[in-house]
Amino acid sequence: MKDNFGREINYLRVSVTQRCNLNCLYCGSDSPDLAEMTADEISRYVKAFAQCGINKVRITGGEPLLRSDIIEIVSSLSKIQGIEKLVLTTNGVYLKKYACALKAAGLSAVNVSVDSLDRGKYKRLTGRDCLPQVMEGIDEAERAKLRLRVNAVLIRGQNEDQAGALIELAKNRRIDVRFIELMPFSDTGKNENMIVKGNEVLEKFSFLKPVQPKKTGFEQSVARYYEAEGFKGRIGLITPVSDKFCDNCNRIRLLSDGKVRPCLGHDDVVDLRGRSDEDLLETVKEAIISKPKGHEFNCGYGNIRAMNKIGG
Ligand code: 5AD
Repeated sequence: MKDNFGREINYLRVSVTQRCNLNCLYCGSDSPDLAEMTADEISRYVKAFAQCGINKVRITGGEPLLRSDIIEIVSSLSKIQGIEKLVLTTNGVYLKKYACALKAAGLSAVNVSVDSLDRGKYKRLTGRDCLPQVMEGIDEAERAKLRLRVNAVLIRGQNEDQAGALIELAKNRRIDVRFIELMPFSDTGKNENMIVKGNEVLEKFSFLKPVQPKKTGFEQSVARYYEAEGFKGRIGLITPVSDKFCDNCNRIRLLSDGKVRPCLGHDDVVDLRGRSDEDLLETVKEAIISKPKGHEFNCGYGNIRAMNKIGG
């Protein structure tokens, strides 16, 4: 379905919890609100979105694998008519345990957040000494034949030196490694000097060559992709700060408390809870149609919610 600005909105990000077992520097994690949608509510709301043209769903959080019913959620969403692609973003800490079951339940891909391959730095950035567990989770997801992406946020003076090692991950394995520019969701993120811009990565790793974007189907992405001779995976740059992609934005968000947030950069929400089927469908349609044109990260977002509340 198209919004008021002619953008085809076909991608829903569903946050299933605000809880997280890490405490990342850039997330600004606030104490989580524990009022989570039930698995049945999630399924009911996603059905309404599917009726409005959503065909791709990403499950996020908080950390989605903290939900004890996560397999039930994946399984029910994968069966919804119209949902052709179901993926999940995780910090990977519990991925080893769940990878095979997630695949069997109908998940096709996972994005794993790994901001450092140095154990000490990982611990400093995330608050927990979990890097070995996360890497085992990635191995298991590869064995389970889940498509894999690694996401990293580079922060000046913290982990910018990790870019090279992270890029190496894409050399020998079919893993896309993507660098996301730091957005202003925490005190760290509000300090502009801390942002490592996408172009800096390109300048430093000049062997990366642009891949022609495929505009069709699910390859539509906010990431710009690069390849290198002999690499099995690609390198992606996601540049919400230096190069906004609002004109091409195809996404909408359902938060863990049952509210729809049409734009990451705007705090406006509409509540889906307690509505009749008809009212639910109308409310979802209205939320899609009225998606804001865009946002500025660098003005007046002092009170923006932490990323664990919005859904990463
Ligand atoms: N800036 C950029 N990316 C962020 N994420 C969370 N907070 C921020 C931020 N301030 C990303 C994480 C993870 C995903 C869930 O959201 O890196 O990959």
